[in-house]
Amino acid sequence: MPTAIGFSRYGAPEVLHPLQIETPRPGPGQALVRVRAAGVNPVDCKIRRGEFAGAEPRRFPQRLGNEFAGTVVELGPDNPAESAVAVGTDVLGSASAQAYAETLVVDTAGLVVKPPSVPWEAAAGLPAAGQTARTALLRLDVRPGDVVLVHAAAGGVGTIAVQLARELGARVIGTASEANHDYLRGLGAVPVAYGPGLTERVRALVPEGIDAALDLVGGEAVTTSLALVGDRRRIGTTVDRKAVEEHGVQRVGGRSHAALREVADMAAADRLTLPVRTFPLGEAASAHRAVETGHVRGKVVLLVPGLGSAAHPGVAPRAPHLGSV
Ligand SMILES: NC(=O)c1ccc[n+]([C@@H]2O[C@H](COP(=O)([O-])OP(=O)(O)OC[C@H]3O[C@@H](n4cnc5c(N)ncnc54)[C@H](OP(=O)(O)O)[C@@H]3O)[C@@H](O)[C@H]2O)c1
Repeated sequence: MPTAIGFSRYGAPEVLHPLQIETPRPGPGQALVRVRAAGVNPVDCKIRRGEFAGAEPRRFPQRLGNEFAGTVVELGPDNPAESAVAVGTDVLGSASAQAYAETLVVDTAGLVVKPPSVPWEAAAGLPAAGQTARTALLRLDVRPGDVVLVHAAAGGVGTIAVQLARELGARVIGTASEANHDYLRGLGAVPVAYGPGLTERVRALVPEGIDAALDLVGGEAVTTSLALVGDRRRIGTTVDRKAVEEHGVQRVGGRSHAALREVADMAAADRLTLPVRTFPLGEAASAHRAVETGHVRGKVVLLVPGLGSAAHPGVAPRAPHLGSV
C-alpha cells in the first residue's frame, strides 16, 4: 500500500503522520502518477493549523499537498489519443490536498510534461508558485518599461515573479531582508529592506513612482503599494483580503495550464532559477517548520524515497541548494 502524509487533528507540525492509502484508480480523463517530489506551500501549514476549519467539513485523516512532479504509471479511459501524456511520461502539475504521497490521481488535462533537464525537486516547486506568479503579472498587465514592486521577493512566488517580470521587460524592485539582497540582485531585481520606512526607501529609489505592485505578505506592503502605485487595479495581493475589500486592490493567484507550461519552458531553457530545500517525504513536519519560519528562499520540497532520483538523499534535511531550474 502506498504511503501518504496527513494529519488527524489540527495543530503543530508534529500532528503530521504517515497514512497507508489504497492505490487510487484513474477515472476517465485521469492518470495515476508515481510521485517523485511534492512542493510545500504556506497554505499547507495554514490548513494543518486549522485556519480553514470553519469553511470545510472536518474529515480526518486529512491529506495535504497541492503540487508535484512524477511519472505517469497508468491512464484511465477516455484520454484523448493526441494527449502528450502516456504511461512513462514524466510530468508536473497541481493537485488538491493529496500530493504528499507516493501516488496520486489527477486529470491529464492539467499536466505538463517535465523537461528532462529540470530536476525533480525543482519541477515539483514550479506549479503553485509559477502559476500564481504568472497569472498575477498577467492580471497586473505588466509590460516592457514598467517599474514593478514585488513584496517578499525572495520566497517561492516572489522568486518566480521577479524573473517573469524581468522577462516581460520590467524593472523590478524586490523587498527582502538584508540577507537576501545579493540573491535578489542575482535574479535581476533592485533589493530594498522591508520594515518601517519602506515607502520612503522605495520612493528614494524610484522617485517617478511604481507602475504595478505584487503583495505576497500583506500589511505594510499594501500601505506602501497604495502610496506609490497610481492605479489600484495594478496592485495585486495573494494574502490581504482587507486590501481587496477596502481599497480595490486585486486579489491575484490562480491556476493556468498555459502559465505552467510557460514557466516549465523557461526552466528548461535555463531562464528561471529556483532554489529548493529538500526533505524526505517522511520528514514533512521538518519541512513545515522550515516554511513556518517565513524566511524560506525559493521553495521547500518533499522527496519521495526509493525512486532512484539523483536528488534522493539518505540524510535529511539537506542544506539549501540551487535547483538547476
Ligand atoms: N505559493 C503559492 O503558490 C501561493 C498561491 C496563492 C497564495 N499564496 C500566498 O502568498 C504568500 C506568499 O507565498 P510564498 O509561497 O511566496 O511564501 P514563502 O515562500 O513562504 O515566502 C517566504 C519569503 O517571505 C519573505 N518575507 C517574510 N516576511 C516578510 C516581510 N515582512 N516583507 C517582505 N518579505 C517578507 C522572506 O524573505 P526574508 O527571509 O528576506 O525575510 C521569504 O523569502 C503566502 O501567504 C501564501 O499563502 C501563495
